[in-house]
Amino acid sequence: MLREKTVVLGITGSIAAYKAAELASYLTQAGAKVETVMTEAAQRFISPLTLQSLNHRSVACDMWTPPENFDITHVSLAQIADVVLIAPATANIIAKLAHGLADDLLSSVVLATQAPVIVAPAMNSIMYLNQATQENLALLKKRGYTIVEPEVGRLACNEQGQGRLAALDTIVSAIDRVTGCVEDMAGLKVVVTAGGTREAFDPVRFIGNRSSGKMGYALAESAMQRGAEVTLITTTELKALSGVQVRYVENAEQMLEEVKKATEDAAVLVMAAAVADYRPKKVAQSKIKKTKDTLLLELERTPDILSEIKGKLLRIGFAAETDDLVHNAKRKLSGKKLDLIVANDVSAQGSGFGADSNKVILITRDGKEIELPLMSKYEVSNKIWDWVINIK
Ligand code: C5P
Repeated sequence: MLREKTVVLGITGSIAAYKAAELASYLTQAGAKVETVMTEAAQRFISPLTLQSLNHRSVACDMWTPPENFDITHVSLAQIADVVLIAPATANIIAKLAHGLADDLLSSVVLATQAPVIVAPAMNSIMYLNQATQENLALLKKRGYTIVEPEVGRLACNEQGQGRLAALDTIVSAIDRVTGCVEDMAGLKVVVTAGGTREAFDPVRFIGNRSSGKMGYALAESAMQRGAEVTLITTTELKALSGVQVRYVENAEQMLEEVKKATEDAAVLVMAAAVADYRPKKVAQSKIKKTKDTLLLELERTPDILSEIKGKLLRIGFAAETDDLVHNAKRKLSGKKLDLIVANDVSAQGSGFGADSNKVILITRDGKEIELPLMSKYEVSNKIWDWVINIK
């Protein structure tokens, strides 16, 4: 569920710092990118090398010496974070955050981030229950921070009380919650198409397009991870997606047939495929020879898959445009009677065919435009599913 999420893990100077190593290892194995920031005191309890070895990434320890091969400052760490998790959090860091101090790397990252922040305190129970700490935590909660309460038990100082770092599962489910990694699509059947169709005009040649299929695969993968029942109808084989029903097709006609079958009992159809609008009218039985100087191919319209699929399901289309993005996308939205169109400028840098990222505008049937910044196709997918979940 945490695939492709960047977790900035802040470790502070509590004896529970050793537990952060297990947490970092778990998050890395779950597919998250873990960027660790350690305070000076944390480094007295556990070596940065431990975290570096577990995460296969450099560890940031202070403002003035950024890790090698790594252009990371407090601002870039703050920006790349999907979530900032401080575990364990001492009374000191809690006090600093409550009062907006930024006198070391970790407190500066927190002040500079717009990502959700999770604080998992661990300390002596008297320090934890001290009015100052409690009021600081209340202030952080009021500002929207998630506090993962420490557990009651035997503490390192041999006392009994509340102050033990929360269990790994509890911290991980807090991350799932704030990053939206929950099975909120369970029970939803979705059909996604991917890739560019190939329209043959002889046994070896076809008319195709530049679509890579990455967007459709990202949609299928993210829906599956959110618990949906997913059918992916694709012209390209990008990677194995366990848990997704995959149907391979080549041309628009075959894609239409598979989409018809798969959408019989589906709730959502997302047409991310670049379907040919025209196909050769005749397909030669044998390879066409180059006997003439010119060759004329007569083309005919392919079926419009989105328009042919009727019924109660939500229908989402893509509008890959090079100019007049919003205008053209809106025309398609109403022409095909869609619920949502994902408009993307395929000529923009880092966006469109073959790229791993995309910059899109979601336009709803009632004309609402949701402009998203440049983000990975996986993140774009999650924004589309968030919209689906919201209106379902
Ligand atoms: O009409 P245009 O091809 O620009 O519309 C793009 C949207 O329509 C995409 O979602 C594409 O998958 C879908 N489409 C379709 N059938 C076609 C052509 C495009 O469903 N024949």
